[in-house]
Formats: sequence, structure tokens, C-alpha cells
Amino acid sequence: MADIATLILEIIKCMATPTCRCVDYHRKFKRDVEDLKSKVRDLNSRKKDVETQLDAEVCLQKQVKQQVEDWLQDAQRINVEIQKVERRVDNASFLSRARLGKLVREKINAVDTILQRGRFPEGLVVNKPATALPFREENLEGEVSVKEKIWGYLTGNEVQMIGVCGIGGVGKTTIMKHIHDELLLESRFDKVIWVTVSHPLNVVRLQYEIAKRMNESLLENEDEQRRALELKEMMGRVKYALILDDVWQGFMLEDVGILRPAVENGCKIVITSRKVDVCKSLGCEIVKVSPLSKEESLNLFLDKVGRDILQVPELEGFWKAMVEECAGLPLAVVVIARSMKGVTNVREWRHALNELRRRVRATAEGSEDEIFERLKFSYDRLQDSNIQNCFLSCSLYAEDYEIRRDDLVEQWIDEGLIEESSRQVMLDNGHFILNKLENNCLLENGHSKDTIKMHDVVRDMALRIGPQFMVKARVRLTEIPDEHEWTKNLEKVSLMENRISDIPLNMCPNCPILTTLMLQGNSKLSQIPDCFFANMQGLKCLNLSETSIESLPHSICDLENLTTLLLRDCRQLKHVPCLAKLKALKKLDMFKAGIDVVPEGIDMLVNLQYLDLCCPKLVELPTQILSNLSHLQHLTVYSKWTTLKIKGEEVRGLKKLETFQAQLYDLQDLNNYVKSNHFKRLSNYQLVVGPVDDFFDSFINNFSKEISLGECEIGGEDSVVLPDDVEDLWIYRCRKFRSLSDIYSLQKTTELRRCTIAECEEIECVVDMVTSSSSFINNLERLWLDKLPNLSVAVNVEGVEATSPHIFSNLNLFLISECSTMKRLFSFELLQGLQNLEDIIVRNCQQMEEIIGWEGEEENHTANATTTTTTFTLPKLRRLKLHNLPELKIICPTRGVMVCDSLHKLQIRECPKLRRIPLVGNVRPSPPAALEEIHIEPKELWESLEWDDPNAKNVLQPFVHFF
Ligand SMILES: *[C@@H]1O[C@H](CO)[C@@H](O)[C@H](O)[C@H]1NC(C)=O
Ligand SMILES: *[C@@H]1O[C@H](CO)[C@@H](O)[C@H](O)[C@H]1NC(C)=O
Ligand SMILES: *[C@@H]1O[C@H](CO)[C@@H](O)[C@H](O)[C@H]1NC(C)=O
Ligand SMILES: *[C@@H]1O[C@H](CO)[C@@H](O)[C@H](O)[C@H]1NC(C)=O
Repeated sequence: MADIATLILEIIKCMATPTCRCVDYHRKFKRDVEDLKSKVRDLNSRKKDVETQLDAEVCLQKQVKQQVEDWLQDAQRINVEIQKVERRVDNASFLSRARLGKLVREKINAVDTILQRGRFPEGLVVNKPATALPFREENLEGEVSVKEKIWGYLTGNEVQMIGVCGIGGVGKTTIMKHIHDELLLESRFDKVIWVTVSHPLNVVRLQYEIAKRMNESLLENEDEQRRALELKEMMGRVKYALILDDVWQGFMLEDVGILRPAVENGCKIVITSRKVDVCKSLGCEIVKVSPLSKEESLNLFLDKVGRDILQVPELEGFWKAMVEECAGLPLAVVVIARSMKGVTNVREWRHALNELRRRVRATAEGSEDEIFERLKFSYDRLQDSNIQNCFLSCSLYAEDYEIRRDDLVEQWIDEGLIEESSRQVMLDNGHFILNKLENNCLLENGHSKDTIKMHDVVRDMALRIGPQFMVKARVRLTEIPDEHEWTKNLEKVSLMENRISDIPLNMCPNCPILTTLMLQGNSKLSQIPDCFFANMQGLKCLNLSETSIESLPHSICDLENLTTLLLRDCRQLKHVPCLAKLKALKKLDMFKAGIDVVPEGIDMLVNLQYLDLCCPKLVELPTQILSNLSHLQHLTVYSKWTTLKIKGEEVRGLKKLETFQAQLYDLQDLNNYVKSNHFKRLSNYQLVVGPVDDFFDSFINNFSKEISLGECEIGGEDSVVLPDDVEDLWIYRCRKFRSLSDIYSLQKTTELRRCTIAECEEIECVVDMVTSSSSFINNLERLWLDKLPNLSVAVNVEGVEATSPHIFSNLNLFLISECSTMKRLFSFELLQGLQNLEDIIVRNCQQMEEIIGWEGEEENHTANATTTTTTFTLPKLRRLKLHNLPELKIICPTRGVMVCDSLHKLQIRECPKLRRIPLVGNVRPSPPAALEEIHIEPKELWESLEWDDPNAKNVLQPFVHFF
């Protein structure tokens, strides 16, 4: 009834309006609908791009960012909504369009918003998070009874709070790490939460850390009590085991918001502390960790020093005596043993033993000094003062901080602790020192291979014996330490990663011998008073990265000894005073800084070795600047969001350059640069010509030797000259580009590892054997083809007598999407080479019919194939994804069976014409050994498949999942 009423109403309305307006309206409606359709097309092509790229990236052990996942879901959701609208539009009477008009316009806006959000310049993936990873500690020496005792309390009902006590270095943390890892393997607790408590205790940090380790987040900026309530509620939802490592002072659980463990909730808290009083004040049952027995100490010592010393009987007396001096402290045993590893000279052992005794005699039993002096012994044995300084410098990072290895080495270089040389040599030296410290157990492995850590007791020692350091790193400071704390004898100051928001206007610390100042990661810091550096004339290394400073204070200009100025990610930075006087400056890093002109005086910095000017707003680099900087080793001025271009010839004079990353003016410029052979000096480069789509770019992280060509005219005799050592090649939107074989200079390269070709309209084949050899792709590891509407085959072998069995023999990932005329992915011949292929991803190829097919007509082969089964072997294939291939009929020819024992995952979505899944046949009665899952969509496809072997379906059924 209501509908009829509105209908009548509309008829009346429409009759009341002049016809032309009605027609107008009708036209506008049609336009809107078209608009909506085109927006949805844009959105969906963006969505496909994102999905395609994710496919390629997720195999690098990364995880999709939440924001990207959300976006994909939104894009999917709006598609469903739009389909509904479209159906209504198709069905709508002329008159009811009036109401629909508004809806259509709303949807246009909605699609627009999602489209806008669909850019991810920071990349789509992140490394997997580090919540509750096991520590994987080495074997535990001794301490079996202690561990059993703690375990008993954790599993029993009598004790809820456990205090593990003992002096520093006795192994409390190590025991708990073992227990932590074992708890993770069980399901006794919902959450096992490990938090290293900083010293001094900071309630706010503790609250956030606990939440983080529970994989939850607390709202920022609330008052402490509200946060405590929130945390308590969070903890109330799970049965938790909370391990608080290294607690130095008492606190109230209620203040932090830690739900009190009780028999009823089954939760437990374990605290480790050097202080029994602290554990008692918290109401813990005490478990004392005693030093190792003599036997255990000897065992541990031998493990670490290497049992080959047993071959030298003269040494026995010495090492036994040395173990005795370790007082059963595992940390001391380990560190001292490591420092003696490889020493076989009796004199050296005697000398070392005397040194150790001398130190130990000076300490009182049971005091903190006990461990310090023993660790110091090992530090002294490093002997090289450079290495010692590198070690001390690690203590500038926060307690329990996982330092990236590369960052640490870079820091040592920046601080001038590594002898000057080429970058390559300095980096190698740095890593050598790092390994040495690690082998000596003065540094230890972090959670991931790329990070290292300092044991808290070792760090305490470093801070104690080191020169004058002030370290307040990551302790949630909101104010800079008072001027009186900045004493005259300070040598290094680290206030990194706090919340310091401003510095008093007249503050001007008097620290004449301060060499390193780290203020990075104080993201709220927006201003530094002009005179701040006036009395820091010795400053060499200044890190202001990741702050919000808008201008650099003038007193910086006079720091004549400054060698390193780091302003990475200072996105607010607009004003930089003239830098001409910083004659000693070797490194200037302005990656992502907000400046829009090059700092004045930069051309006077003749000692500069490292320059990063990847600044999004920078559009011009005045000529002549680069040619003055003849010591440059590292020059990076290109990133995905930069527009700055430079001329290749400007760097040709830079004889020391090793790393070069830039956008060049045009193809001609690139050709000239390559012909100059300057690239031969470089150990890595990324040279870009033309626009490169940003999804391309987020894939580039550690550039090696890379060329990217966007919207260029390539093909023909010498249209592009490529360096003969190029490893990565990106070709994007090059209209006339027909095949890699047309790039003459590419034939001479031997290092090509990765190749991506996208949006090139005319390309017909990747390699054309008719016109070139295929040797240049023999080392190719990754091939990515996207949106190539004319591509018909990967390798054209038409009329070629014999193809090389090595084609693509190193290929590991093959990804192809939106190549709308391609019918067959691989010929049987080509398959012979693909023995290293791990990933095949095929998406959105409208005419794709076969994944593997016979070259030529199938009949030629079927004659003998009817009786025998052909096998197609891809021994390393791990993942096969087939998505939206409307014409796909076969994965491999009739009666063929794919033999791929490494296959983990098979995914088939929207391939309605597929008839067979050739994984099981009479030659292969069982599923691939590594198979984990088969994903099929829609479900009906699975039911409609045909099977050569009656048993095959049953064999595969257990692996099948539907979307
Ligand atoms: C379209 O109209 C027909 C007939 O008027 C009706 O049966 C059908 O359900 C309508 N479809 C939709 C999607 O509204
Ligand atoms: C953390 O939480 C996110 C989202 O709530 C979830 O997707 C993820 O699997 C969780 N990670 C862990 C290690 O629990
Ligand atoms: C400077 O700070 C940045 C940002 O936190 C960090 O990545 C870099 O390693 C620091 N470098 C030095 C030498 O401290
Ligand atoms: C700068 O460095 C030189 C050489 O290391 C040193 O002699 C000089 O005293 C330093 N200047 C200041 C002001 O510390």
C-alpha cells in the first residue's frame, strides 16, 4: 500500500515538474550510475593490486598489516552493497529512480573514501610481532631442583606469588626463560606474560608493557588509576601467568592494575629479584637460587671454553683454579670461559688467572661487586680499546632493548669507533666486532636473528666501568634532566625514546667533553633552545631522529667537531641554519625530514661521506653541490615518495661512492651514466627513471643493484643501456616494450635475479628465443608479470629447434596476474627447467586455459598418453594459487599427474571450468608428502571434479577447506 501511495505521489510530482527537468534528472541519474560503476572498477583494480602484491610478499615471513586487512574487508563489503544497488537500479521503474538517485550518490562517496584509503606508501606487511615468543635459551646447567620447585608452585594450589631471588648473574632470568618457554608449550595458562621491569620502576611503563605482552592495548593519556582499572579488567578475562623479571623495588599490585592471583582464578605471578626484601614485601613465597656447585661450574666452564683444552694437561690446574674464582655464578663462568676460548699458552693462562684473582680479592663476598669484577676481567681481556668502546656504547640503549645489529654497527661507525675506510670495510669490521662480543657472551642474541641484547648485569657493569655516561633511555621521562645533572665530565648522554616534550628556554648544559648525545625517539619534542649546544663544543655524534623539531637551534652551527648529524624522520623540520661551518661533518641523514630546500652551506661540507636527502618535499638539488662532495660513499636521494631528480653526470666524479640511490632525469641520462662505467664502483644502487607505481616500490627494501624504468621508450638496438651487473629490473608502463629479448644490453648481463613487468600494453613474450639467447634469465629467481594484455607466452620458442633445459632453472617465485590473452602458463618443455620453483600464483587471467600444457596440439601427445600416465615434476613447489581464471580447464594434461612432494598449499578460487586436480593418480596413490591444505571456492567445484583414480577424492578430502 505504502508503495502505491509513494508511486502516485511521484507521478503527481513528476507531472508537476516540466518534462525537461524530468529528462534532465533522468540523464543525471544515468551519469551517476556510470560514475559509480567506474569508481567501483577503480576500487576493484586497486584491490586486485593489493592482493597480488600481498601474495608476493607474504612468502617473506611477513604478516599483513591490520590496516590493510581492514581495507580489503571494507572493499569487499562495499562491493556487496553496490551489487545490491545495481540490481535495484536495473529493476527500477523510471519513477522510483528519484529515490535511488540519492543512494547512488551516497555510494559514490563511500567508494571514493575507501579508494582514498587504499594507498599504503609504508608497505602492506610487517614483521611478525614479538608477543610471547619463546626465548630458546641454551641448556640449563644445574638448578634442576630450583626449577622443579618453581614449577611445583606454578602447577599447585598453595602458592600464587613466587619470588625467585639470588644475586646478579646467578641465573634467575635464565631459569625463568626456560620455564616461560615450557609454559608456552602447554595450555595451563591462557596468557604467559613476560615483562622485564625497568630500573627504577615505572608504573606507567609497566602497565603498557603488560598490556602489550597480552597483545592488547591500553588507551593513551588516561590517568593512572583509570588505566589500572582497565588493565585489571583485561587481566580478569584470562587465566594468566605473569613473570616480572628483575624487580628492584616493591610496589602495590593494585596501583599497577595487576589482578591479584588467587586460588579461584588460577593465576600466578613470578618475580625475579636480586633482593629478598622486595619479594617478601610483595608477599611472595621465596625460592632462592644458589650458586652452581663446583661440579656444575666445571661442566659449564668446559662447555663454553671448549673441551679441547682437556687435550693440554698442563692447563688443568689453571682452569680449575679459574672456575673456583667464579664463585658458582653462571654468568661469570660463561663470560670468563668465553674470554679464554682458544687460548692454549700456559703463560697466558697463568697471567689471566693472576689478573682474575687480583680482581676477586678486592671484592667482598655476596656484594654486587662480586659479579662486576669478574665480568670486568672478561672486558679487560678484550684488550683492544676500540672493541671495548664499542661494547660500552651498547649500554646507551635501554635495558633489555633488542638492538638491531645493523643499527648498532652504524652507530659505532657514527661514533667514530670503527677505523675509517670504505663503507663496506667499515660495515664488515663492525659486524666482526659484534660477533666477537657475542662470542665472548658480553652480548647475547635477541629474539630474532637481526637483533642482539645486553644482559642486564653486564649492562650494569658497562655503565659502572665505562666513562661518564648518563643513560635514561626509554623510561618514559617527560622532562629533560635538570641542568645540574648535566655534569662537566659527561662523555655520552642517551635520553632516547622518552616523552620529553620541551626543553627549558634558557637551558644550556655545560658539557665540554660530551661526544655523543642521543635524543632520538622523543616524538613530542618540538623545540630545542637556541643556546642548547653552546657549551658542547666537543660533540661529535648527535641523533635527533624521530622528534618533532621544526628548526635546528643556531648553536648547532658552531659545533666544529660534529661528525654525525642524524635527523631521520624529523617530519616537522622546516628550518635548518647554514651548515657551512660544520667542516668535520661526515654524515648527514635527513631521511623523511620535512625540509623543502637543501640546507644552506651543504656544499661546503667537503668531508661528507654519507648523505641521505630522501625528503618528500624536496624538489631540487642545486647543481654543483654533489660534485663538491668528493668523499661521498653513500648517497641516497630517492624513495617512493620523493620527486627529486638528479643528473647522472653529477655523480660521475664521486670516486668513492659505493651506494647510490636516485631518480635520474630520463632514459638518455641513464644511458649516459651507465656508459660512463661509474656504476662499476658501486656495491649497490637503485636507479629510477620515470614514475614508478607506489605498490611497486614498497617492495623494495634492501636495494641491491636495481634499475626501474617507468613510462620509457624501450626496445630496439640501443634504446636502453643497462649495467651489466643489474640484479633487479622493473619495467612499468613502457608502451612500446615488446620483450626482454629486445633489450640488447640485457643479453650481456649475468646477475639478473628479479624481474617485474607491469602494465606494458604491447609485450607478447618475456623472452623471445627466436631473437635472443635465454642465458640472461638463467639466474632469475623471481618473475612477476602484471597487467600485460597482449602477453601470450612466457618464452617464445616458436620454430626454435632445441630449447635450453636451463631456462628459469633458478626461478623460485612466479606470479602472474591480469594477463588477459595468455592461454597456457607453461609448456611441458619449459617445465623441465623449473626445478627450483616454489611458488606459482596465477590470478585474474581471463583466457587462461592450462597451467601446464603440451607445446602445439594436444592430439599429438595424447596418442601414447592414453595408455601411460605422464608425470610432471615440480620438486620444490610449495604453493600453488589459482584465482579467478574463468576459462581454466586443466592444471596438467589428461591423465598427467603432478609430482610435487613439497606442496604445502593449493588454493583454487573461482575457476569454474576446472575439471581435475591432478595430485593423485595410479603412479601416485598418496597425497603430496608435505600437503597441509587445499582451499577451494566455491564448494560446488569440489563436488563436480572428475577423478582418474577412484581413490583420489577420498585421499585428498581431509585436506580440503572451503572459504
Ligand atoms: C525485479 O523485479 C521483478 C519483477 O518486478 C521481481 O520479481 C524481482 O524480485 C526484482 N528483483 C530485485 C532484485 O528487486
Ligand atoms: C594479537 O591480536 C590480533 C588482533 O586482535 C590477532 O589477530 C593476533 O593473532 C594476536 N596475536 C597473538 C600472538 O596472539
Ligand atoms: C638514531 O636514531 C634512529 C631513530 O631512532 C635510529 O634508527 C638510529 O640507529 C640512531 N643512530 C644512532 C647512531 O644513534
Ligand atoms: C675538536 O677536536 C679536536 C681534535 O680532536 C680537539 O683538539 C679539539 O679540542 C676539539 N674542540 C673542542 C672545542 O672540543
